[in-house]
Amino acid sequence: MDPMPPSVALARLPTPLEPYDRLSEEWGGPRIWVKRDDLTGFGLSGNKVRKLDHHLAAALADGARTVVTCGAVQSNHCRATAIACARLGLRCIVYLRSPDGRRPDVLSGNHLLQVLAGAECRFIDPATYERRDEVLADAAAAEGNAWVIPEGASDAIGMWGFVEAMEEAATQLPSGSTPAALWHAASSGGTTAGMVWGADRLGWTVPIVGCSVGDPAAELDRRIRAILADAAAIHGGPIPEAGWESTDAYVGDGYGTASSEEMACIVEATRLTGLLFDPTYTGKAMFGLREEIRKGRFGPGDDVVFWHTGGGFATFAWDWTDALTRLDP
Ligand SMILES: Cc1ncc(COP(=O)(O)O)c(C=O)c1O
Repeated sequence: MDPMPPSVALARLPTPLEPYDRLSEEWGGPRIWVKRDDLTGFGLSGNKVRKLDHHLAAALADGARTVVTCGAVQSNHCRATAIACARLGLRCIVYLRSPDGRRPDVLSGNHLLQVLAGAECRFIDPATYERRDEVLADAAAAEGNAWVIPEGASDAIGMWGFVEAMEEAATQLPSGSTPAALWHAASSGGTTAGMVWGADRLGWTVPIVGCSVGDPAAELDRRIRAILADAAAIHGGPIPEAGWESTDAYVGDGYGTASSEEMACIVEATRLTGLLFDPTYTGKAMFGLREEIRKGRFGPGDDVVFWHTGGGFATFAWDWTDALTRLDP
């Protein structure tokens, strides 16, 4: 097996894998397990911390003093990067996509934490964000001694966080049980790619399902394949061609939106588990899982792992009034 690359080990690991039986009973389907990556830390919580552990180790090994990255204003990745940089004493510059390329009037959720952690926030509009890799490269060149982390830390370095995570999860399931799915929210593809590489490395045949939160499944697949191809070029060996499924069936009205039906499902899931699900990522994925159970894809006798990828701070950047008025008139 290829050795695990260095890590700064900021994530608190292993995260628990827990059964949520009230959710299973209420939704009438499989036994639902939740992999609690919302517990990798507090400020440093969520799937991004696993990926940053490897990226920041590479940055420090390279002698970097500044880290440059990008995401949406409410990016969990930018928040986790800002906090990790504060912890490690690195300067952090984040390029944040906002609808008009300007600073939002109100500081909230992840953006508030980016600022509290001392990141320099530079706002760009969606058209400029399309050229994000160029923008990051130019910013790093202007700084000198800077390390670029691409969107979501989703590349052949960040991916290792989830290769490692698969080793962790494989030992946590009851022996002899193979889940009917590792179901998770997917966007920049690094989480899924790491799971796929990790499963392949372990010889673990487990269906990995990335539930897109905005992009068409073909675009998500393209990103996942690109990361796997880069990893194969670096580490050798064949590119894993199978072992995952991308679905865009639950994108709804698109990235960063949530219908009242989705919002109601999120509140229901919280009331049945005591866990938080944000409308942009884990909430969309949880809604998708419930719909797949309703359609009969997973039934009693199946085990399904819902991989909780964090994102709880975004909960505080949403207006819940409408959903709560409908639920509790
Ligand atoms: C909470 C949360 N879940 C899931 C994802 C998707 O992970 P990936 O970008 O690796 O596909 C993200 C990415 O931003 C996220 O913030």
